[in-house]
Amino acid sequence: MTKTFILRLGHRPFRDKRVSTHVCLVARALGAQGVYYTGEHDSELEESVNKVVKAWGGPFFVEHVEGWRKLIKDFKGDTVQLTMYGLPFEKNLKKLKKDLLVIVGSSKVPPEVYQLVDYNLAVTNQPHSEIGALAVFLDHHCEKTNFKDARQIIEPSARKKLMEEK
Ligand SMILES: C[S@@+](CC[C@H](N)C(=O)[O-])C[C@H]1O[C@@H](n2cnc3c(N)ncnc32)[C@H](O)[C@@H]1O
Repeated sequence: MTKTFILRLGHRPFRDKRVSTHVCLVARALGAQGVYYTGEHDSELEESVNKVVKAWGGPFFVEHVEGWRKLIKDFKGDTVQLTMYGLPFEKNLKKLKKDLLVIVGSSKVPPEVYQLVDYNLAVTNQPHSEIGALAVFLDHHCEKTNFKDARQIIEPSARKKLMEEK
């Protein structure tokens, strides 16, 4: 099975805390192995994601990196930027057979990113959000994860909140 990692660009703790946290939660829930982020280091973001991993299982990491250029250049596998300007993602999914680095932006993405990546892919060519684009893309690309060492496991129910606590 191939692995999928996310690179979240330009995190700003004051403005992006909630969105970056949701990028991480969506990445984990929908089958990615971890999130790298650039911008400002944010230990609160890391703590809140690590708390979720402790309660609901892993493995999953969130890691700050200084620069995106080296990570993209050195990545062993395919690199995909999700952008509303890209090609339709549905038509390109079958080409993605290696480990994947999926890049999502925050405010303006540097033009060099568009040139460095292997693919610029769009989830519709309409503006929406990194959380929405990532969720749709991963739902199509990743297999569902069997989380290990979860302390809390939900028993699906039509009407009740049923949870097993370990
Ligand atoms: C608030 S948007 C910024 C949009 C910005 N105009 C750009 O693309 O550079 C933040 C991020 O959401 C993602 N995004 C927004 N709309 C998208 C779409 N239609 N398809 C894929 N990704 C999208 C991109 O990763 C983008 O960098």
